[in-house]
Amino acid sequence: MKTRKERFQEDGFLVLDNFRSSDECDDLLARAAELVAGFDYRGHPSVFQTSEQERTSDDYFLESGDRISFFFEKDAFDENGALKYPLFESLNKIGHAMHDLDPVFDRFSRSIGMKSLAADLDLSGSMIIQSMYIFKHARIGGVVDVHQDSAFLYTKPASCVGFWFALEDATVENGCLWAKPGGHRTPLHSRFRRSPEGGTEFEVFDESPFDVDGAVPLEVKKGTCIVLDGLLPHYSLPNRSGRSRHAYTIHTIDPNAVYPADNWLKRDLKTLRGF
Ligand code: FE2
Repeated sequence: MKTRKERFQEDGFLVLDNFRSSDECDDLLARAAELVAGFDYRGHPSVFQTSEQERTSDDYFLESGDRISFFFEKDAFDENGALKYPLFESLNKIGHAMHDLDPVFDRFSRSIGMKSLAADLDLSGSMIIQSMYIFKHARIGGVVDVHQDSAFLYTKPASCVGFWFALEDATVENGCLWAKPGGHRTPLHSRFRRSPEGGTEFEVFDESPFDVDGAVPLEVKKGTCIVLDGLLPHYSLPNRSGRSRHAYTIHTIDPNAVYPADNWLKRDLKTLRGF
């Protein structure tokens, strides 16, 4: 029987069923709902429909690396700046430092199970640099285009690894992840960085489209952990179903790799912690 590490190295992803208990998932669902209930969105940069909107939205995003920030679904607001749906259902995600700032997220992100998984994958020395709570609401949860996580958490050499937790069952209908086994043997196609002129841009290394022929849907039950190699192209389709697909992700990097100063996500690297 193959080890976790052998399966991960072969496929570029690893699906671990029943990795978290249903109660642990429910704790995170409840905590996310609490954070949203305490979020006063008046004055949020996404609300304003002015020429300044793009710049202030960029700033809000670029400053979110060491904060708990809220990001809306596209078209959440009408032309008068009013929400079209209730606040909770208007959000796309929360990011990007709950694992360090919120005790409930901290506890979920760091556990005996995570330590032992990291050891199995030779990632014991890795540091958690980012967390995201992804809502993927029923009916309006949007598409996530094919991408490599290493483009957004770029290090030299590439070292980004993602841990994706299904907080609810994920199916083709409600927008589960898709990936091609072995797809991580693809070089990095681009990197997302801060532009010298302000805002962000992609530095493109390879213009060819990702080869996702043979990608398979990763339909998983609540509590499953999917580990993703940072070079593995993956995507998810819109949620057209009547059931939400909440997920939580953390991403790690190797602290010995070079983390360029123009990466979009800025953290005081000395303060990063592992599992
Ligand atoms: Fe991703």
